[in-house]
Amino acid sequence: MITERLELREFRPADLEHLYRLDSDPRVMRYIGDGSVLTRASVAEALARVTKYYRNYPGLGVWSAEERDGHAFIGWFCLKYVPKTVEVEVGYRLLPDAWGRGYATEGARALLRHGFADLGVARIIGLTHPDNLASQRVLAKAGLRDAGWGRYYGRDLRLFAVSRGESVE
Ligand SMILES: CC(C)(COP(=O)(O)OP(=O)(O)OC[C@H]1O[C@@H](n2cnc3c(N)ncnc32)[C@H](O)[C@@H]1OP(=O)(O)O)[C@@H](O)C(=O)NCCC(=O)NCCS
Repeated sequence: MITERLELREFRPADLEHLYRLDSDPRVMRYIGDGSVLTRASVAEALARVTKYYRNYPGLGVWSAEERDGHAFIGWFCLKYVPKTVEVEVGYRLLPDAWGRGYATEGARALLRHGFADLGVARIIGLTHPDNLASQRVLAKAGLRDAGWGRYYGRDLRLFAVSRGESVE
C-alpha cells in the first residue's frame, strides 16, 4: 500500500530488529499497555503472530511502514480486530524521529480508505490511553469522532469511531 510519502508492506521475520527498536523505546511505549518496553523474546513472539495474521484475516493486519524516499523504517500501521470483539481498529506506532510530520495521520487515512473501500468494513474504531493526546489528535484528523470511553484490552480507553459512508477526509 502506497501513500503520498509512505510505503506499507507486510512484516517478514527479518524485520525483528526494526520492531525491537520500536518496542524497546520507552518514549514509544509510554501510553501502550502498562507502559513497559518489550523484551526481544516478546517482540519475536509478536512478530510471529503478525506474520500469521495476514493469512488468517485477509486484508487486515499490521504493516511495516517505510519512507518512500530513502526506505527508512519509521514504524507500523494496523487495521485489525480488537481481540475478543467484532470491532476493527486502526492503529500506529512510529519511531520518535518520525513524529510531528503528519505520517500517522497519512497512514491512518490510507487504512480507513482500505477498510471501507476494499474490505467493506462497517465501522472502524481507534483506542488510546486517556493521556495520549497526540494519538487522539491523529484519530480526529483522520475523521474519527469522539465516542467517549470503552473497555478494551482489559483497560478503560478513549474511544473514537467512524462508520462507512461518513466522511473520512
Ligand atoms: C501518536 C503518534 C503515532 C503520532 O504520530 P505523528 O506522525 O507525530 O502524528 P501526526 O504528525 O500525524 O499528528 C500529530 C498531531 O498531534 C499533535 N500533538 C502532538 N503531541 C501532542 C500533545 N502532547 N498534545 C496534544 N497534541 C499533540 C500534533 O500537533 C499533531 O496535530 P496538528 O497536526 O493539529 O498539529 C506517535 O507520537 C507515536 O507513534 N507515539 C508512540 C506510539 C503510540 O502512542 N501510538 C498510539 C497508540 S494509541
